[in-house]
Amino acid sequence: MFEIKELLDSRSGDAESLHLSHLNHQLVKVLRTLGFDRDYISGKGAWLFDSEGNRYLDFLAGFGVYALGRSHPVIAKALHEAIDMELPSLVQMERSLLPGLLAEQLSLKTDGLEKVFFTNSGAESIETAIKFARFATKRKKVVAASHAFHGLTTGALALNGSDEFKKKFDPLIEGVSFVEFGEVDPLEKLISQGDVAAFVVEPIQGKGVYVAKPQYWSAVSEICKKYGTLLVIDEVQTGLNRTGKFFAYNHYGISPDIVTVAKALSGGFMPIGAVLMRPEIHRKVFSSMERAMVHSSTFGSNLYSMVAGLATLKVMEDESISQHVLEMGRNLMERIRELSMTYDLIGEVRGEGFMIGIELVEPTGFSLKARWKIIEKARKGLFAQLIVGPLFTKHRVLTQVAGDHVNIIKLLPPLISGEEEIDYFMQALEDVLREAYSGSGLIFDFGKNLIKATVKSR
Ligand SMILES: Cc1ncc(COP(=O)(O)O)c(C=O)c1O
Repeated sequence: MFEIKELLDSRSGDAESLHLSHLNHQLVKVLRTLGFDRDYISGKGAWLFDSEGNRYLDFLAGFGVYALGRSHPVIAKALHEAIDMELPSLVQMERSLLPGLLAEQLSLKTDGLEKVFFTNSGAESIETAIKFARFATKRKKVVAASHAFHGLTTGALALNGSDEFKKKFDPLIEGVSFVEFGEVDPLEKLISQGDVAAFVVEPIQGKGVYVAKPQYWSAVSEICKKYGTLLVIDEVQTGLNRTGKFFAYNHYGISPDIVTVAKALSGGFMPIGAVLMRPEIHRKVFSSMERAMVHSSTFGSNLYSMVAGLATLKVMEDESISQHVLEMGRNLMERIRELSMTYDLIGEVRGEGFMIGIELVEPTGFSLKARWKIIEKARKGLFAQLIVGPLFTKHRVLTQVAGDHVNIIKLLPPLISGEEEIDYFMQALEDVLREAYSGSGLIFDFGKNLIKATVKSR
């Protein structure tokens, strides 16, 4: 007999030691240092609950997968039904209905991206896009943007804009060049030889939440067309209404050749990813019956992911999620900007919908400025952690710093978040900022501990 509840009850308290022995022991140390080491036992909507009965506002949303919040009842019911129906998943030598239905739904959201390849993750979607773009164009080179993040498998890693991730994992795939995100001329220079297969780019960059001007996108689209370079838009994080439109590129009125998605597509219940593309690209890769299996992934179209995907799209439609995100995101961003009038630590507040970056800048007040300098000298980008830490430890609000060595706090609230969640977050943020300005021990003792831990781990 296997009873999951009994197993969890009988081993509660063993999580940390198991992770230290068998999983990522360094992550355990990081969580301990930050005070993020909690035992969560459930999640509902925008909230997490721990074993001591505390509730936490989850503005991280599993790095964006819980677009509809945790445990959404419609998706849960669809999955329960699918299991009870004993659906024949992964027969492999078959062509079942559900992947077809999900592919149909996704392609209806695009301008002519009629073909879909299902994967299990964002990185796998990117690997697929690289392979297909190279094959279809018969070109080897790929261009990516500064600050880019497309996943950590070796192909996707080659497109990563940060050396921290890539160091000593080489050789990665060859033929990758980088251009400054938001700049057109260097891109044109790179692709004008007519030998670049694809420009792979996030419409809003996850690391740092960088946003380019709308004119950038029309220019990029035009030059990619001019030189036969496929425009691959990575919507793994921004897609599925995260920014208030189904795809973030919809804000810019462009028509990419390939779009990658993952994360939110299954409402967080199942691993899933998809690559949407123009039919001619797909037709080139799968050009004959001999090539029918030339690219595949064992779990790719598993029916439970398809069910979760279809249910997620239906809920997003029924609940008019995109409109909600546009309104609430605007509201949240405006309220944060208003705080910057009182707290000059807050610099630019940028993003779209519920993908928001809050840049922290050196304050002007004498004593806070001095503290900023000490903290930044210990480790660049550490100050943002001094806000993210107490937001969690004092107010139980889960957020993140948007990358390495940057003072940018990133918010990825579940898309269903409303007034209650926004009010809760704003009260917490204002309180932590007030503490920072008052020179409170809460913030700066936390800072001292972090500096000690940082120095020790070097
Ligand atoms: C834009 C983007 N692409 C790709 C990925 C990789 O996705 P995964 O972690 O599912 O492999 C991520 C992950 O955060 C992402 O933000």
